[in-house]
This record gives sequence, structure tokens and C-alpha cells, in this order.
Amino acid sequence: MSLSQEQIDKLKQKAIAMTQRARAPFSNYAVGAAVLCDNDKIIGGCNIENVSYSLTECAERVALFSAVAQGCTNIKALAVATKNLGSPCGACRQVIWELCGDIPIYLVDLEGNSLITSSSKLLPSAFKLQS
Ligand code: THU
Repeated sequence: MSLSQEQIDKLKQKAIAMTQRARAPFSNYAVGAAVLCDNDKIIGGCNIENVSYSLTECAERVALFSAVAQGCTNIKALAVATKNLGSPCGACRQVIWELCGDIPIYLVDLEGNSLITSSSKLLPSAFKLQS
């Protein structure tokens, strides 16, 4: 499924904007994420840290779970914004794979420089119940 340049640009901009909502008092590392749904709606997420550190939520999962809760059944793409083109953690990779299948993933820095990867590149040989 091919995306237009306009859709990709909007998705990246939303991810960058979402870094402003990050609550990261412990790491001081802001992450913004944005998912593109099949109805072309874009839903954002940010990392939300907790003093009980393991309760911290990653930006990607906040965005993905929000999209599911808002009725998005088919996610077409994900963008993740950080200051240094950071890549999703292992736990997020598993969630991305399960909720989205093989989608394009745009890693963006705060100036808008970006790299494109995909769920299957980030999580080769993914765990699944059926082959
Ligand atoms: N973080 C994310 O939001 N996404 C990732 O994929 C990796 C890490 C957050 C968690 C924590 O708030 C901060 O980045 C530093 O680890």
C-alpha cells in the first residue's frame, strides 16, 4: 500500500509535535510517535515516565493503543521522532508487529531528517502463534 508524500510528511510532523507532550523528567529523552490509520486519521503518542520506572510507557505504544481504542483496525504507517533518530525498543517492536503487520516506519529527528525502515526489518523472525 503506497502512501502519498503529503501523508508521510504529515505523519512525521505529528510525531515531531508529539515530542512536546512527552513527560520525561527522569531520562529527559522526549519521544513522539504518530500512526496513520486506514481512514487517514493520524493519532499521536508520547513517552510518559513514572517514578516507579518500569511503569513508563513508550511513545509508540501510547500511539498504537490510542489508535486501537479509537477504532482504528488497520494501521498503515508509524513515525517515531527523537532528537537522534532513535529506533523503537524491543517491546514496542513486538507490539508494532502484532498490531500492524509489516508497515513502513519512519524514524525522524527534530529537524525533520528521517530514515525509513519497516516492522519486518526491525523484528525479523517475529514470534507468532501460527506460522
Ligand atoms: N522510549 C520510547 O518512548 N520508545 C522507545 O522505543 C524507547 C524508549 C522512552 C522510554 C523512556 O521514557 C525514554 O524513552 C528513555 O528510555
